[in-house]
This record gives sequence, structure tokens and C-alpha cells, in this order.
Amino acid sequence: MSPDDLKKLAAARALELVRPGMRLGLGTGSTAKHFVDLLGARVAAGLDVLCVATSEVTQAQAESLGIPMSTLDETPELDLTVDGADEVDPQLRLIKGAGAALLREKIVAAASKRMVVIADDSKLVAELGRFPLPIEVVPFGLEATRRAMAAAITASGAAGELRLRKRPDGTVLLTDGGHYILDAHLGRIANPELLGAALNVVPGVVEHGLFLGLAAGAILASGDGLKILGA
Ligand code: A5P
Repeated sequence: MSPDDLKKLAAARALELVRPGMRLGLGTGSTAKHFVDLLGARVAAGLDVLCVATSEVTQAQAESLGIPMSTLDETPELDLTVDGADEVDPQLRLIKGAGAALLREKIVAAASKRMVVIADDSKLVAELGRFPLPIEVVPFGLEATRRAMAAAITASGAAGELRLRKRPDGTVLLTDGGHYILDAHLGRIANPELLGAALNVVPGVVEHGLFLGLAAGAILASGDGLKILGA
């Protein structure tokens, strides 16, 4: 099976969690895109759900499929969010944000009774950190924020370089919220809770891609079948 087939397999399994009348959070990324496609087909066949998107890209995809959409202002509590991840550890701690949607993804996940991750099993790691940790920051004071972040990272026991994310054409990437992303190339994150707490108090940091205590389950697809973590 191709990596894309595995993503689709995980997405199809997550669709079995959806019940009529549910309020759903729709994730962002190539795996979540499969989920939204499959959900769109179910909606076309008569399934009644109301959804909130985690990015403009997902919003546009869902609208194009005729999925009924809402906002967190109108629908502040969701039943289930299904989203991808860049890394998942056995305790269901995640790194997210390769698609630059981490801020809305975290707000939507936190507003959900249940968040379930869908991914191919290459995303399952013993320890987080090989994947660069995305950290969303306001453009104002970037260099001062970067220095304060570096100090916070060191104080938490981690080490590595912070790189401003750019688009393929060399321009600085702006998130849906108009912010920058600094990717922290740390190699390993021995204590994600400590690092997350240290980053949370740096002025200028809007959000980071460590999702701790948010995912209730993960559906991980491999050539051997599905591995389910958590609920
Ligand atoms: C988007 O900002 C990310 O958090 C994605 O959910 C994550 O990068 C997983 O994306 P893929 O499903 O494309 O690997």
C-alpha cells in the first residue's frame, strides 16, 4: 500500500466514529483531507453533521463538498475532532503544525470532547522531537522573541536551532492568523510538558505545536493493518 493509501485507511476508520447529529472538528493536512473527502460523500448520501474547520484550506474543501459548516463562535463545543499529526508518542502526545495550522487546530481540539489522530504509522515515535517543532509567533519583535524562546528551550533541557519558516519562493510564510512560524530543530524532546510550559510564557509566542493531553486516541495505519491507541 502507498503512504497515501495508508492515510486513507486511517481516515476511513475514523469515519466509523461519526454519528448523525455530531458536531465535528475537521483537521488540516493530507490525511485529514481524506477524512473530509470521505465525510463529504457521507453527507451527500444524507448524513447530518455540523463542522468547524481548522484552516482556510479545509474550510474551502468542506464547503466545496457541501458539508454544513459552522464556527466556534456559533458552535463552541464539538463532539469529535479528527486531525493528522507529524509525530505521535505512545502517551498520545503530539507534534503538529507542519501545515502551519497549529493554532486553529489546537483551539478546535481543545473545544472538542474527543480528538482522534489519523496517520500512517511512520508518525508513531518513542520520543517526540525528531520532527521540527512548529512555534507560531507574532511578527512584531521577532528577534527578541526568538532569543527569549531560545532561552526557554535551553531552560527546559532541550537544545537546537530555530528557523523561520519560508515558502518555496523564499518569502516568509504567514499563517491563517497572520503570524510567523519558527521551527525548532531539537532532535529530541525529553520533557514535552516542561518545554511546552516554558514556551507558553514567552511574550510573542502565540502557540506551539506540542499537543499534550488533547488526543484521546490515534488510528495508525500500516501495511499490516490498523493500530489503535487510546479510546
Ligand atoms: C497541519 O498544521 C498539521 O498539524 C497536520 O495535521 C500534520 O502536519 C499532519 O499532516 P499530514 O496528514 O499531511 O501528514
